[in-house]
Amino acid sequence: MSRLALERVLQSQGFGTRRQCRQLIEGGHLRVAGTLVDDPAMPVDTAGLRFEVSGQSWLYREHVYLALNKPPNYECSRRPSHHPGVLSLLPEALRLRGVQAVGRLDHDTTGLLLLSDDGAFIHAQSSPRRKVPKLYVATTQEAVTPALVASLLQGVRLHDEPEPLAALRCEQLAPRELAIVLEQGKYHQVKRMLAAAGSHCAALRRVAIGGLRLEALGLAEGSWCYLGEAELALLRPA
Ligand code: URA
Repeated sequence: MSRLALERVLQSQGFGTRRQCRQLIEGGHLRVAGTLVDDPAMPVDTAGLRFEVSGQSWLYREHVYLALNKPPNYECSRRPSHHPGVLSLLPEALRLRGVQAVGRLDHDTTGLLLLSDDGAFIHAQSSPRRKVPKLYVATTQEAVTPALVASLLQGVRLHDEPEPLAALRCEQLAPRELAIVLEQGKYHQVKRMLAAAGSHCAALRRVAIGGLRLEALGLAEGSWCYLGEAELALLRPA
C-alpha cells in the first residue's frame, strides 16, 4: 500500500504540475469518497482510491492500459503531422500522464489500438520477439482468389526484408475481404504483403490482438476503455 499527499496523487494521475494540482485542491475541486477535501498535503492510501475532480470521477491507477477503437484519418504518432492524433480522443488527464500508442496503425487503418503510460508494457508489447498474433480484416480492390490466399500463407518477399513473410492464417471472408493473422508487426505489413501477392488493400481494420477482440469490448468507433487484468492476460503469448 502506498500513501501519497493528495497533490501528488493528482499530479501522478495527469491533473497538471504539483502547483496546478495544489490550486485545484485549494479551490475546492476535489472530493474523496464524496467529501470535499481542500488540504493538498493530506496523505491518502492510493490503493483503490476513488476521487472526483470537478465532478468527474476517477480511480487511482499506477499505470493505465487502454484500448481504443481507432477511426480512420487519425495518426498514432505523438506529433501528428497530417491528421489529428489518436491521443486527442482521450481525456486530457490521460494525455498529460504520458499515455502513448503501443505500436502504430496507419492513419487510414481502423480498429483495435492499445495505449499505455507503462514504458515496460509498451516495450514488451512492441518487441519483435513477442509472438502475439494480430488479426486484420482487409478489404481488397480486386476479388480475392485462392492463389492470393495461397501466396499470403506461403510467404511473400518484401523489399528490405531478408526472409519471405507469411501470414499465420489467411481466410477469405467475402468476395473482396480477407481475414489475415500476422505475428510480426512490420511497417505497412498487410498492405505490402497484399501488394507483393498482386493485390491492393482498399481498407484495413485490426480486430484482435492475441485473445483480445475488439468486438468483445463493445467500443464505438473513436471511443476507448480501460483494460483490466483479465483483458491484459489475453494479450500474453500463448
Ligand atoms: N499493416 C498495415 O499495412 N497497416 C497497418 O496499419 C497495420 C498493419
